[in-house]
Amino acid sequence: MKKVLVLVLASLLIFSFAVSAQEMTLRLADNQPEGYPTVVGAKEFARLVEERTDGRIKIEVYPGGILGDESSTIEQVQFGAIDFVRTSITPMANFEPAMNVLSLPYLYPSEEYMFQVLQSEIGEGILEGLKDAGIVGLTWYDAGARSFYTADKKVTSPEDLEGLRIRVQESQLMMDMVEALGASPTPIAWGEVYSALQTGVVDAGENNYPGWYYNSHHEVAPNFVEDEHNRIPELIIMSKITWDKLSAEDQKIIKQAAVDSTEVQREAWDKRTEEAKKLAVEEGATITTLTPEQKQAFQDKVKGLYPKYSEGYEDLLNSILNFEMEE
Ligand code: GCU
Repeated sequence: MKKVLVLVLASLLIFSFAVSAQEMTLRLADNQPEGYPTVVGAKEFARLVEERTDGRIKIEVYPGGILGDESSTIEQVQFGAIDFVRTSITPMANFEPAMNVLSLPYLYPSEEYMFQVLQSEIGEGILEGLKDAGIVGLTWYDAGARSFYTADKKVTSPEDLEGLRIRVQESQLMMDMVEALGASPTPIAWGEVYSALQTGVVDAGENNYPGWYYNSHHEVAPNFVEDEHNRIPELIIMSKITWDKLSAEDQKIIKQAAVDSTEVQREAWDKRTEEAKKLAVEEGATITTLTPEQKQAFQDKVKGLYPKYSEGYEDLLNSILNFEMEE
C-alpha cells in the first residue's frame, strides 16, 4: 500500500513538472500597424511572458490585420486557432452586453477616470463575463477618445453631420449613435476604411488620433473635429482553449504580464497621440477643437442611448457614474 502511494506521488510530481515545464509558441493578432501603441503593448506582453517563463512560452505578434479582420480573429480565438487578440471592446459586446455600457458616449470625465474604473473590480467583473464565450479577458489598453473626421465638409456641430455617410465599427451602439446625430452609419471592417473613404463609399470616419494618422486616413479624410464622443478601450483577450492547457502557475504569469504591459502601452499611447496630431497637421490635415458649448450640442443628441444600452445594467452604469477616483 505504501509503495503504491509513493508511486502515485512520484508520478504526480513528474506530471506536474512536465506541465509546468511546457514549451509553446503562441500567436497574437492585432489589426493595427507595426509600431502602433497597441502593438508596442502586445510586444511588451510577449517579452514579459518569455522572460518570466525562462523562454518556455513565446508569443509571436502579428500586426496589420494579417491574421484576419477583428471579428474573424475573435472567432478564431473562440475555437483556439489564434491564442490572443488585441481588440477594441466594441465587438466584444456581442458576447458581453456590459461592454456597450463601457462604450456609452461621454461616459467618463477623463481618461484616468476610465482606467481606474476598468482596473477596479467593475472592470474585472466584466472580463469574467467573457468566459462563457470561450474568451479570457486579460487586460485593458488605452485608445484615447474617438472623434469624427470627414473627407470634405468641416464639422463643428451635429447639424454639419446631417446626411453624411459615416463608417462605424460593426456595432449596434455605434450605428445608433451616428443615427442619433443625424448621419447614416455604414459598418465596415477597419482594414477597408481607407479605400471606403478614398472612393467615396463613405464621407467620414471616426476614431482616435493614432488610428486616424497611422492608418493614413488623414490623407483621404483630412478634417478632424475633436468632439471626443466616446472612449472605447482596447482589450487583450485569450482563447480559453489555450488557457485551459496551461498550468495554474503559467496562467498567473500570463495574466500578470498582460496587466504589467499596460503601462508601456499607455506611455506609447500618449507619445503617439501627440506625434499623430503634429504630423497630420504638418502633412496638411486640419484639427478643429470645440468649445464646451459646442461639445455639449453633440452630447445632448446622444443622451437617449443611455436608457436603451443600460437596460438590465443600471447598477453597472450607476457604479461607473458614481465611481470614486483615487488620487
Ligand atoms: C480602434 C482599434 C481597432 C478597431 C478600430 C475600428 O482604432 O484600435 O482595433 O478595429 O478602432 O474603428 O474598427
